Amino acid sequence: MPRIATTAFAALLLAASLARAATPDDSIRYRKAVMNTMAGHFGAITLIFTGKVEFQDALLDHAEALAAAGAQAERLFPAGSGTGKTDALPLIWQEAEKFQKAATDMKSASAQLRDAIRGGDKAAIGKAMKPVADACKNCHDRYRKDEKKM
Ligand code: HEC
Repeated sequence: MPRIATTAFAALLLAASLARAATPDDSIRYRKAVMNTMAGHFGAITLIFTGKVEFQDALLDHAEALAAAGAQAERLFPAGSGTGKTDALPLIWQEAEKFQKAATDMKSASAQLRDAIRGGDKAAIGKAMKPVADACKNCHDRYRKDEKKM
């Protein structure tokens, strides 16, 4: 890393270590970062699994990362993070219990896909893909602003 970049990175780390509690904007940015992480890894898994690219050796890494992000779904929507630059609908906080179930579905579907990929059985992996896609879609259909549906 060039020295200037190293210095900038160190400054960023220092700023981060002095950070105050997350603002609603930070919470929104964070959940978008995790959502985009999930989209990236699930997209990569799909490309590998369908044979569009080879990279079989990366399949498990993507699945582990997807499961790690999926495990965070339940805490991505703290109270107060429903306004600002967000496509999250108020319904999330109005029916919090039902919403949490959608987040838990994400967590378990991504964990099951990871386990199937660990196991290496192609049919089992194929079977574990759809519940993940469904978990994304079900939640977006109900809790995300219309124009952004996947
Ligand atoms: C429990 C509900 C839920 C689940 C499960 C879920 N999402 Fe989301 N997702 C949302 C909501 C709500 C937003 C809008 C967030 C915002 O704008 O603050 C969103 C936003 C996004 C975005 C846009 C992020 C941005 O930069 O604006 C992407 C991409 C995304 N989700 C992908 C996925 C993928 C892929 C999955 C499944 C692997 C998934 N999501 C699962 C609720 C969910």
